[in-house]
Amino acid sequence: MAEAQGNIDSKDFGIGIPQDNQGYYLKGSANLDWGIKDRLARIFSPATGKTVMLAFDHGYIMGPTSGLERMDLTIVPLLAHADCLMCTRGALRQIVPPTFNKPISLRYSAGSTVLTELNDECVMDIAEAVRLNASMLAVMVAIGSRHEALTIRNLTATIDAGSRCGIPTLGVTAVGKELVRDSRYLSLASRVCAENGAHVVKTYYCDEGFEKVAASCPVPIVIAGGKKLPELDALKMARNAIDQGACGVDMGRNIFQADDPIAMIQAVKAVVHGNESAAKGFELYQTLKNEKRNNTN
Ligand code: R5P
Repeated sequence: MAEAQGNIDSKDFGIGIPQDNQGYYLKGSANLDWGIKDRLARIFSPATGKTVMLAFDHGYIMGPTSGLERMDLTIVPLLAHADCLMCTRGALRQIVPPTFNKPISLRYSAGSTVLTELNDECVMDIAEAVRLNASMLAVMVAIGSRHEALTIRNLTATIDAGSRCGIPTLGVTAVGKELVRDSRYLSLASRVCAENGAHVVKTYYCDEGFEKVAASCPVPIVIAGGKKLPELDALKMARNAIDQGACGVDMGRNIFQADDPIAMIQAVKAVVHGNESAAKGFELYQTLKNEKRNNTN
């Protein structure tokens, strides 16, 4: 109990100094609650406002994709370099050592696989996400597909449940075989996610008009890498996306299927956080790759 007498009198009230209103550095996020902001700050570096998320959740719809056959061998060595891990709860418990202490963007929706029609999904229990100490909940949103309404209901339910626990939601714009990845479609899909309350949107980069996709999405956008490209092209895509308004990448195959995945994730970080050109990033990639080769010979 505080002493009633003998305390030093309060005198340092800072009269005349306005209290810092603590503006927040991520777009559309200033009015969020403290827990959500704290989790977003674990994912997006407060120094650069950017993130390099490592995506290895592909197995939940694609099975053992090339590069993910043995995630204990291929993904674990990459974990230390990633800002955030995007994975399923299975992978998290099976291969990610809890000692890494990295923010997790948990794959929160699940359903059909590539063998049938994608995006017929449900969502998990929020208690499971809390048990796993998730920093973000990733939900597939398939605008324009037969399962559009179902996936938007999943997004809504996730935002409601996550918000109760201070966990932000990532709306993942799915692209079905029948949908075109142009700026018109990606703008619509991204905006639908944000208007429904997604705190972050993951979408694809498009060569024409990506700046319109990013500008018309009122929350941070991260881009998926998509199918494997030559390393320099993947770095160019990351550079262009950042220059045109993306707040980072959530990249999988272009990292773990690279010739040297550890060198590649470092090169991507140099581009995203270090503001390096794609050419400089590629130079770094080759240097790191050659160093490793020389050390193993
Ligand atoms: C998306 O829905 C997938 O589950 C991956 O997380 C995403 O596509 C990112 O991986 P990639 O860079 O290989 O496209």
